[in-house]
Parts: sequence; structure tokens; C-alpha cells
Amino acid sequence: MTARIIDGKAIAAELRTRVADEVARVKRDHALTPGLAVVLVGHDPASEVYVRSKHTQTQAAGMASFEHKLPEDVSQADLLALIARLNRDPLVHGILVQLPLPKSLHTETIINAIDPAKDVDGLHPNNAGRLAGGLAALSPCTPLGCIILTKSVYASLEGMNAIVIGRSNLVGRPLVQLLLNENATVTIAHSRSRDLPKLCAQADLVYAAVGRPEMVRGDWLKPGATVIDVGINRIAVPGGKPKLVGDVAFQEALNVAGAITPVPGGVGQMTVACLLVNTLRAACAIHGLPAPAV
Ligand code: GUN
Repeated sequence: MTARIIDGKAIAAELRTRVADEVARVKRDHALTPGLAVVLVGHDPASEVYVRSKHTQTQAAGMASFEHKLPEDVSQADLLALIARLNRDPLVHGILVQLPLPKSLHTETIINAIDPAKDVDGLHPNNAGRLAGGLAALSPCTPLGCIILTKSVYASLEGMNAIVIGRSNLVGRPLVQLLLNENATVTIAHSRSRDLPKLCAQADLVYAAVGRPEMVRGDWLKPGATVIDVGINRIAVPGGKPKLVGDVAFQEALNVAGAITPVPGGVGQMTVACLLVNTLRAACAIHGLPAPAV
């Protein structure tokens, strides 16, 4: 058997088109241009690539994009002052502080300073707590993308056995909550879990978000399982360009899984598309408009 490859690139492109249509509608009917502010501190090369992509895609969707690039040694007080300004700015509906931040800054304090109504990363404790409580919330973009990709395979996840490997605030924990909202049965696994292969063998849906290259092997999987690979690991190739691999051994998994996301071209594409969705949702909520149809 060869698994179906879930085309994250195509699914993300289709989602961006739907966002752009809704943005055009709120501009026309309500004179509202959703705006996203992205704050980048320092020069982490991967973060610079992500921030550029967010800027381009935000503008392509017809939204306003505000980039704030701050030096590596910016003080915590100056960064908090910028966030306070963005919180008050009526043209800004979404605020994203690119992570990781330099060690001199206290990430929790910075995230807590963002107005929860503009927290399009879904990381503020108000949003994380609401999501965990089953209430309406802005949810983190990568887990939202994982759910959309899974639903391209199964219309309903009700009663399915899912395993989430990884428990980060950005991916693993919120993904667990979103899967519970879909009525899946969820196992939360992590680096200290015993016998991961045995836990995986039960799962209809496998989410790998550990940041360990090709850790999940093909023979761990239940035949026919759907595999969503959140990992983006840069591997050195002797004498060649570094190669991107996921947290799943893709070639092995192809022979066992029913459907699988590639790296690149899977989950990565969905994160920015879902950021656009969250910005549009935040803009509508702030202006008291009905939730958009995306
Ligand atoms: N760094 C890597 N992914 C993300 C993300 O989704 N949000 C933020 N703020 N930083 C990131």
C-alpha cells in the first residue's frame, strides 16, 4: 500500500483564497481592512524567513501588514511599550510576536501583554484557558492547520484514536484541545512517554510534533493511519545543501500509512494561512461583526 499524500500546499492556497474573498467582503460591506502586526526581535534566520512569508501572504490576502523589526538587544520595556501601542492601534487587529525571543526577554511577560482580542497566535493565557475550557477562543495557527489537513481525509474525527507526540504550548497542548473539541479520543505523548511504538500502534491519527528528525518509524504505525508531521528539521548533507525532514520517517511511513503530510509542503504551509484566518476572525470580533465564513 502507498499512502495518499496530503497536499498542504494546495489546501493552504485554497484557504488563502477563501480568506481573500472574505477580506474583500468586509472591506466592501463594512469599510474594514483587517490588519496584522508582526514583531521580530533580532536576526534568527528561520524567523526572518517566516516573518517575510507572513508579510507577503497578509498583503496578498488584501489585509494590512505592519512589520516591526527590533534589534537583538531591545529592552523589555521598549518591547512592552510597542505592544501597548499596537494594542491601542485601531488599524491593528492581530499581533504576533515571533518566537523564540532572545534570552534577555521574558517570553511569558511579553505574551501576557498582548490584548487577548488581538492574540492571533492563541498563546495568551486567556485564549489558552478558554480553548482548554471548550470555549470560543483564538487558537494557535499550526494546530488549526493540523485539524484542517486531517479533515481533508476524514469529514468527522468523532471517536477516532489520536496520538499527539509533543506537548509544547504552540502545538501539542492546543492540538490536544482541538482534537477533543472534534470528539476524538486523545493520547498525549512526549519525550518521557514509555513505549511510544505501542502507543502509536493504537492510533488512527498520528501527530508528530517533537522536533526530532524522523523519530516516528514506519513500523510504529497502524496500517492505514493518517499521519500529520509537524516537524521541520534541517539536516546537514555532506557536500550538499541542508535537507528538510519531518519528525516521521517519510519513506517508511508511506508503505504503512493511509495518508501522510510531506515535509516540506504539508503542515508548514497551513500555519500562515491559519494566521490569516485568525486575523480576519479577530478583526470581525473586534468590530462586532458576525464570524467570517472561513
Ligand atoms: N515560531 C515558530 N512558529 C511560530 C508561531 O506559530 N508563532 C510565533 N509567534 N512564533 C513562531
